[in-house]
Amino acid sequence: MPDPDTRAYSPGLEGVVAGETELSLVDGEQGRLLYRGYPIGQLVERGTFAQVAELLWSGEWPTQAHLPAGPLPEEVIALLRGLPAETVPMDALRSAVSLWGALTRPQWPPTAEQARALTAFSPSALAAFARLRGGQEPIEPDESLDLAAGFLYQLTGERPDPAAARALDAYFVVGAEHGFNASTFTARVIISTRSDLASAVAGAIGALKGPIHGGAPTEVVNQLHEMGSADQAERWIREAVGRGERIMGFGHRVYRAYDPRAVALRSVAERLTGVADWLAMAVQVEDIALRVLAELKPHRVIKTNVEYYAAAVLQGVGLPPDLFPATFALARHAGWTANCLEQAAANRLIRPAVRYVGPAERSLPA
Ligand code: ACO
Repeated sequence: MPDPDTRAYSPGLEGVVAGETELSLVDGEQGRLLYRGYPIGQLVERGTFAQVAELLWSGEWPTQAHLPAGPLPEEVIALLRGLPAETVPMDALRSAVSLWGALTRPQWPPTAEQARALTAFSPSALAAFARLRGGQEPIEPDESLDLAAGFLYQLTGERPDPAAARALDAYFVVGAEHGFNASTFTARVIISTRSDLASAVAGAIGALKGPIHGGAPTEVVNQLHEMGSADQAERWIREAVGRGERIMGFGHRVYRAYDPRAVALRSVAERLTGVADWLAMAVQVEDIALRVLAELKPHRVIKTNVEYYAAAVLQGVGLPPDLFPATFALARHAGWTANCLEQAAANRLIRPAVRYVGPAERSLPA
């Protein structure tokens, strides 16, 4: 019997440094998020998703950038058409990305060109799926529109209102990148085996599909719907916490201060007229939730997280709640692919150790 394994072990890898990155700094204590040094608030106010994606891929801030949605191969439309009507959008997106890999066969090491092509492809695929399940035909991308506006156009067939396009673009900026979260880590593990970019992103989508990673904004909408009005919020929250439930849109593994992405998205949502009533209620409910959570969970700092106001923006631009997680995945393509480029540039196969806690060596029964 070998000596007991005394190597350090942290369940969930919590607090373990598993790599180095130049892409984003997530500062939980001070509530800061920087992409390559630039604060998220400035990127939202003064940049576009196309610029942010180029910044992540190349390291340089482009004075201007244009990233239109990509073409949709016939094979992808045929695949999406063949999916069962009840397919969840994340499964449709993951399948489409997988087929994109089979069609384009991106080689290792991944390149910025591959990253751009895949990030541009996925909004077209998701919009096509959303139309096909509603009995409508897919719409070809409009080359003149950037990704967020183009996605809205391909969903509805109408050129989006500029305020809505700007708001969704801001949401894409905020969702682009966020340290070694579970889906990004998944992408890096896959690319570290010298597998291809489509496999890495398909795997990342699988990780993001889990409800405790990418599912919260849909639940924020459902929660406010169930409360009905701000008058009911306090009773509703007390009862939910009393049953041991979580209030969606509050709390974070890393942030102990107000999530800087929530600050940025709240100001974007405030400019969206279509969501004014909903937002007024959300702001009132937020105050009540923060007060009640501070009283009921005094041992834990629980602040508003990005998903609370992400829900407002996504509602405000007219997306159905079941598309929220997959729309988040579209934005996160920039970060996933940038992480793959960074991993491949200084690659070391990611292969941690595991502590064996099973039976000691023994013989099979005679
Ligand atoms: N509502 C009620 N109580 C909460 C909440 C919440 N939203 N968040 C944390 N708590 C409480 C827990 O019940 C626990 O209380 P206890 O000690 O009395 O049992 C205490 O705070 C600590 O909880 P942990 O689970 O250890 O905190 P952790 O850091 O793991 O949780 C998480 C982070 C999963 C995000 C959690 O806050 C949560 O479930 N929030 C709601 C879901 C949500 O909004 N997710 C989106 C996060 S942002 C993102 O992923 C992009």
